[in-house]
Amino acid sequence: MTAEQLAEISEIVERRLGLRADDKRDILDGVLARRRDAGLYLARLAAGDAAELGALAAELVVGETYFYRHVEQLRAFAEVVAPERAAARGGRIAVLSAGCATGEEPYTLAMMLHGAVAADIAAVDVHPGALASAARGVYSSWALRAVPALVRERWFAPAGAAWSIAREIREAVAFHAGSILDEGPLLAPGRWDAIFCRNVTMYFTEPCARAVYQRFARALAPGGYLFLGHAETLRGRSEEFELCHSHGTFYYRRGESAAAAAPAPWYDQIRDASARVHALALPAGPPPAPPGEHNEISRLVAGERYGEALDRLARVPGDAPGALALRAIALAQQGPRDEARAACDAWLRADPRAAGAHYLLALGAESANDLVDARLHARRAAELDATFAMARLHLGLIARRLGELDAARAELQRALALLEHEPAERLALFGGGFRRAALLDLCRAELEAVAR
Ligand SMILES: C[S@@+](CC[C@H](N)C(=O)[O-])C[C@H]1O[C@@H](n2cnc3c(N)ncnc32)[C@H](O)[C@@H]1O
Repeated sequence: MTAEQLAEISEIVERRLGLRADDKRDILDGVLARRRDAGLYLARLAAGDAAELGALAAELVVGETYFYRHVEQLRAFAEVVAPERAAARGGRIAVLSAGCATGEEPYTLAMMLHGAVAADIAAVDVHPGALASAARGVYSSWALRAVPALVRERWFAPAGAAWSIAREIREAVAFHAGSILDEGPLLAPGRWDAIFCRNVTMYFTEPCARAVYQRFARALAPGGYLFLGHAETLRGRSEEFELCHSHGTFYYRRGESAAAAAPAPWYDQIRDASARVHALALPAGPPPAPPGEHNEISRLVAGERYGEALDRLARVPGDAPGALALRAIALAQQGPRDEARAACDAWLRADPRAAGAHYLLALGAESANDLVDARLHARRAAELDATFAMARLHLGLIARRLGELDAARAELQRALALLEHEPAERLALFGGGFRRAALLDLCRAELEAVAR
C-alpha cells in the first residue's frame, strides 16, 4: 500500500469514527495489506459502507468495560439525576449509553432503575461483535466483579462458568449499531435526559471530541445530564454544560435553555461597574484595551478557553491591571507554573492587595504539593478579602490534607456560609469550571469527610 492510501484510511478513521489514527499506523498498515484491492476497499469505506466501517472499528477500538463501573457516578445518576428528570418529564425518562461496548453499562442502568424510575434505555456502539455479545447477554465472572451480591442473585443466572443476564433486563435495552459521529435520529435534538459516554472520547481527536460534546448538548433535553469517564473532561471544551458534584464524583448538566447556556452578561458589568471590578479582586482603573476586547478576553477566561485568552492578551498592553489579572488567571489554569507565578507577582506589584493573585499562588502551590506555601497564600487571600469563599474552601482542603481536622472543619464551615454569597462574577473567573452548586456540594462532602 502507498503513503497516500495510509493517509486516506487515517483520515476516514478520524472523520467517521473520531479515533486518533496517528498511533494506529501499524494496525492500519496491516488492514490495508490484507486487502487484495486496497483502492476498492478505501472507496467502499469513503462511501460510508457500514459493514466495512464496523469491521475496521473492531480492529481499532478498546472495549474494556464491566458492570457497575464507577459506581459513584451510577449512584449519582440513580439517586439525583433520574428522579429529577422523571419529575421534569412527567415520570418517564430516556437514557443513552453511547459507546456501550458489550452492554454492561446500559444493563447496569436498567438494573439500577428497575422498579424505581420508568426509563427508555438505548445503547449504541460502532463495534458489531460487541453488540452481538450484548444481545447474547452472557458474561464472565470478571465482568461481574463489581456487582453487589444481591444484584447478582436477582439478575444473573449461572450458565456454565459464565453468567446469563435476566431476560427482563436484556429486553429493557434497545441496542443500535453506528458511530456517534453519524447523523441520524439517535441524537435528535432534546431526545435524552441523560447520556453516558464514558471512556469513549478519550481515544478521539480533539476536534471530534468537541464535535461529539456539541452534539450531546443538542441531543439532551434542557437540564439533561452527561456522564463522562474519569479521564475525560469538558473543561475548556464546551460552554453549554455546568459541572455537577455529588456522591464524590463529577458529571455535567446542560443549561436549561439556550439563554442559560450562554455566558452570563457579567462581563459587561466588569467594564461598567468599578465596584464590581473591586469585588472581583481586579484592581479598579481604566481597562487595558478597548472595552470590547477586554470583555471578550474575560468571556474566554470564564469559558475556560485559556489558550485563546492568552493569545489575545499577548496583543494588548500587558502592564494594565485588568490584563495582569486575566493573564494570571489564565496561566494559573493552564500555563507552566513558573509563568503563572510570574504573572501573579506582576499583578501583586501593580496591586499589593490583590486577593485573587494570592489565591492563584495558593492553587499553584497546592497542585505542586507545597502545602505550606499554599496555606500562606490562601490565608493572605482570605485576610485581604474576608468574603472570599474559595480561599476559605482551599484553606479547608489544605488543612484536611495536613491532617488538621479541627482547622479543616472550621474553614469549610466558613466557606460553606460564604459560598452562598460569593459573587457570580468571581466564581466564573476563579472557580476553575465549578459552578456554585458544585462547590457547595464539594464543601459539604469535605465537611462530611472530616466530621467527628
Ligand atoms: C472502553 S469502551 C467503554 C464502554 C463503556 N462506556 C464503559 O465505560 O465501560 C469504548 C467503546 O466505545 C466504542 N466506540 C468508539 N468509538 C465509537 C464511535 N465513534 N461511535 C460509537 N461507539 C464508539 C468502542 O467500540 C468501545 O466499545
